[in-house]
Amino acid sequence: MEQIKDFNTYKTAYQKSIENPEAFWAEISEEFLWYKKWDKVLNWNFETPEINWFDGGTTNICTNAIDRNLEKFGDRTAIIWEPNSPDEAAKKFTYRELHQAVCQCANALLSLGIAKGDRVCIYMPMVPEGAIAMLACARIGAIHSTVFAGFAVESLRDRINDSECKLLITADAFHRGEKTVELKTIADEALKQTPSIQHCLVFNRTNTPINFVQGRDIWWHDLVPQQATTHEPEQMEAEAPLFILYTSGSTGKPKGVVHTTAGYMVFMAYTFKQVFNYRDGEVFFCTADIGWITGHSYTIYGPLLNGGTTLMFEGVPTYPDHGRFWDIVDKHKVNILYTAPTAIRTLEMFGTDIFKAKNLSSLRVLGSVGEPINEEAWHWYFENAGKKNCPIVDTWWQTETGGILISPIATVTPLKPAFATLPLPGVQPILVDENGKEVVGNPAEGRLCMKFPWPGMARTLYGNHERYKQTYFSTYPNLYFSGDGAKRDENGYYRITGRVDDVINVSGHRIGTGEVEEAINSNDLVVESAVVGFPHDIKGQGLYAFVICNSDVTDTETLVKEIKHTVNERIGAFARPDKIQIVPGLPKTRSGKIMRRILRKIAEGDTSNLGDISTLIDPSVVETILKSAV
Ligand code: WT7
Repeated sequence: MEQIKDFNTYKTAYQKSIENPEAFWAEISEEFLWYKKWDKVLNWNFETPEINWFDGGTTNICTNAIDRNLEKFGDRTAIIWEPNSPDEAAKKFTYRELHQAVCQCANALLSLGIAKGDRVCIYMPMVPEGAIAMLACARIGAIHSTVFAGFAVESLRDRINDSECKLLITADAFHRGEKTVELKTIADEALKQTPSIQHCLVFNRTNTPINFVQGRDIWWHDLVPQQATTHEPEQMEAEAPLFILYTSGSTGKPKGVVHTTAGYMVFMAYTFKQVFNYRDGEVFFCTADIGWITGHSYTIYGPLLNGGTTLMFEGVPTYPDHGRFWDIVDKHKVNILYTAPTAIRTLEMFGTDIFKAKNLSSLRVLGSVGEPINEEAWHWYFENAGKKNCPIVDTWWQTETGGILISPIATVTPLKPAFATLPLPGVQPILVDENGKEVVGNPAEGRLCMKFPWPGMARTLYGNHERYKQTYFSTYPNLYFSGDGAKRDENGYYRITGRVDDVINVSGHRIGTGEVEEAINSNDLVVESAVVGFPHDIKGQGLYAFVICNSDVTDTETLVKEIKHTVNERIGAFARPDKIQIVPGLPKTRSGKIMRRILRKIAEGDTSNLGDISTLIDPSVVETILKSAV
C-alpha cells in the first residue's frame, strides 16, 4: 500500500477515491491474504440499509495481522506490554511468539466448544492476553464482544445477555494506579444471571484468591499453554461479523455495534498507515483501553495489520507519578503517541517540570482522539511532548465508524489547532441543517453526516437492525448521521463542535444520559431524574443530575451519596455524576417532555438567557431550581 507522502498525493488519492471508490479500495485490498478474491467491491443502500464490501471474498483478519507478517517480520516485536507498576518487568511478544500464543488460545477456545459465529465476552484488563483472546476469536471465526474492565456487574451482565455469549474470558483482578479491581468477583455476580454462559476462562494476573466454580471456571494457565502452537484459521466470508462493541446512545440500553471482517480489516490497515504516517519498525503507543473502539482499531488491529510494534500499557498516566507516559516513551523509544485530550489536560495541571528529565527524542508523531481538543491543550501537547517538531493528528471518528474518518495525515496535511481538518480518502462528509438540507460553500456549520459508505463502517446493531436504521439513517434520508455538529472553515477544514444529541463525552468516555437516569431512578427513594452535561476543565464534560426524591426523604446528603454509589454499581465509576441537585420538580412541557435545554443552561451556569420558558407547565420550577443550583 502506497504511503501518502505529500499534500498533492493526498488530493489525487482523495479525488480518485470519490470518482471511483471501488477501484480505489480494490487496489488497496490486493495486498491482503484472501482465500478467495471478492466478486464485487461494494453493494450498498442507506435505505434498508445494507452495506456489503468485498462480496464473495473470504479471508481472516487474524491471519492478515499475524501470519502474513511471519516471513518478513517473525522476530520483530509485535506487542510490548508495560505493566501498571514500573517495578514489574515489561513483556514483549515477537510476531512468532504472538502467532503461537494466539494459535494456542484458538485451540483452547475450540476445546471449550466455541465455534464460528459464537459470541465470546472478553472482560479483561490491559494485558497481552486480552489482545490474544480477541485475535484467537477472530482466528476461529467467533465474534468477540469486549467489555471495558471499568464496567460494573449490571453493565457486564446486560452486554453478555444481549448477544448471548457462550464464554466469558476474564482475570482474577488487576491493579490500575493505586487501585485494585477484583474483576472475577464482579464477573461472578454477573454470571448469576447469564444463562448463555457455559464457561469462564480466568487469567491469573495478580494471584488474588478467587471463588472458583468447578465445571464452569477454567484457569487460563491450566488450558491455554498446553495447546498446540499451530492452528488452521477459519476462512471467513467478507461480511461475517468480527466483533460486537457496545456503546451508548441518547436513549435506551447500550447498542451492540457490529463490525464485519474484510471491510474493517482493510480500513484499519489503511487509516493506521496513512494517518500516523507509520514507518516500518516504529513503536506505536495508543493509550486507549482494549475495551473501547480505539483499543480495538489502533492498539491492536491497525498496527498488527501493518506488521508494526504496538505498546499496551496497563496503568494510568499519573502513576506512580505524572511523568509515567514520558517515562514509557523514553523506555521503549516510542515513535508515535496516540492519546486523549482528557489525559493531556490532566497532565497539564502538574506543570512542565516533569519534562526536564525526559528525553522524548524518539517521538515523531502525536495523536489525539475521543473528544474535541481545545487549543490550549493542543499547544501544550505540541510544545512539551512534541518539542514543536511532531505533527498532531486530531482524529475524528466513532465506535460506529470503526476507524478514523476526518484527520490530518501526519507530515502531509497542514495543521490547524483544534481542527480535525480533512476527510481521509474514501470518506465523503456533508454538513446539513436541522431539516437535512445540505449546507453548501465555506465557511459553514451544520450536522455532520456521510453520504457514501466506507469499508470500516458498522453494518448493524446486534439483533436490532431496525434500531440501526432508526439511529443512523432515518434522521436524514440517504445519509449516515454521526450525532455530531461541525464547522467547516474557508479552506474546507472541519472542526467538530460536539454532540447534538443526548450523548455526553466524559473524559473521552461516551455516556448516554438515559442510562445514567435509569441507574439513578433505580434507587427507591428517587422519583425521577434528568442528567445533562456541563463543561469540565479536565474531563471535557461532566455529568449534572437533577433528581426529584420521595417527599419523605429528609437526609438529602446521604441520598446524594447513595445515588453516586448506585451509578457506580450499575454502570461503573466513570459514569458517576459530578454534581447532583435534589429538586422539587423538572421543567416539563405540556406533553410531559423535559426541557433539557434549560437544565443544560443551569448546569453550565449560564442563566442570563434561559430562552422561552412559557411552554412549561410550571415555569416557577425553573426559579426554584436556579436558587439551589450546585
Ligand atoms: C464521539 C464518538 C473516536 C473513537 C473514540 C470515541 C467524539 C471523537 C473526536 C475528535 C471531537 C471527537 C465525537 C464522536 N469525538 N473524536 N477528534 N474531535 N470529537 O468513540 O466512544 O464512539 O465516541 O466522540 O462526539 O461522536 P466513541
